[in-house]
Amino acid sequence: MEPVLKVESVSKVFHDRVGNDIIAIEDLTFEVAEGELLVLLGPSGCGKTTLLRIVAGLETATNGRILLDNKEIKGPGRERGMVFQHYSSFPWLTVSENIKFGLKYRPDIKKEEGDKVAEYFIDLVGLHGFEESYISQLSGGMQQRVSIARTLATDPRILLMDEPFGALDTQNREFLQLQLLEAQTVAKKTIIFVTHDVEEAIFLADRLLILTARPAKIKKELTISLPKPRTLEMKTSAEFMDLKREVLSYTRKEAQKTDMLWRKTPVQPEKFRDEHKFSMRRHK
Ligand SMILES: Nc1ncnc2c1ncn2[C@@H]1O[C@H](COP(=O)(O)OP(=O)(O)OP(=O)(O)O)[C@@H](O)[C@H]1O
Ligand SMILES: [Mg+2]
Repeated sequence: MEPVLKVESVSKVFHDRVGNDIIAIEDLTFEVAEGELLVLLGPSGCGKTTLLRIVAGLETATNGRILLDNKEIKGPGRERGMVFQHYSSFPWLTVSENIKFGLKYRPDIKKEEGDKVAEYFIDLVGLHGFEESYISQLSGGMQQRVSIARTLATDPRILLMDEPFGALDTQNREFLQLQLLEAQTVAKKTIIFVTHDVEEAIFLADRLLILTARPAKIKKELTISLPKPRTLEMKTSAEFMDLKREVLSYTRKEAQKTDMLWRKTPVQPEKFRDEHKFSMRRHK
């Protein structure tokens, strides 16, 4: 079967204010199959958001191209639904109105069916009882649930999710991980999910691409063959722990490289103690 999405030799170079090149992505090539949940796992600042923004058509690649159903992406389009890293619902609309907003673009849903469809997605993300609340009246976790429901309701060909659960507490996060897996199975969704959380990556992924520190390149590809449907109990199974150990062996090195990019001096605990005593007041 033809892949839904093809990313072909994509690179992205930004320029900082003094004109230096910042290579965010370097020659990245991968495919996403129909109904697949592909997780991109990489350290902070490696270029994950940039890549999703290019797929969404919000940013252009410096080199390479991206094909959706064999058609080159030239700009934003309804077939790609993006859930952003930061909450992004319409604050002047209620929960229900936010979700119905996207339904306007679905030719398969009649206007009179709107309420019923909105109700389905509101329940899917666990917001029953909050239909008429405004976004500002919700907690951060609830606001992110609205963003997810709103994007799912538009029924995109491919769902692009940028650390959507990053700011949530464990309970919210696990609830939404399970709901996402259910949505993937029931609605046969094709999903690219970005995270820097190793456990979340393994739990959700059909396939995992571990990215290097900036510039983002593929360091390792792993097919996750944990059975489906996945259950929270799996997170403590021996198979899961083995996978976690393997994934961490790749990600830790990349996280260290990120530290080196961001610091003028490498982290040296001994040096810190000896030379930087002044930096901390000692309480006796
Ligand atoms: N508009 C821009 N102009 C200049 N540099 C940019 C721009 N957008 C991103 N960058 C740089 O590109 C690199 C990758 O940024 P990006 O936001 O894609 O990282 P990320 O992997 O999503 O990080 P995080 O996990 O912290 O969200 C960073 O070094 C960032 O400073
Ligand atoms: Mg990001």
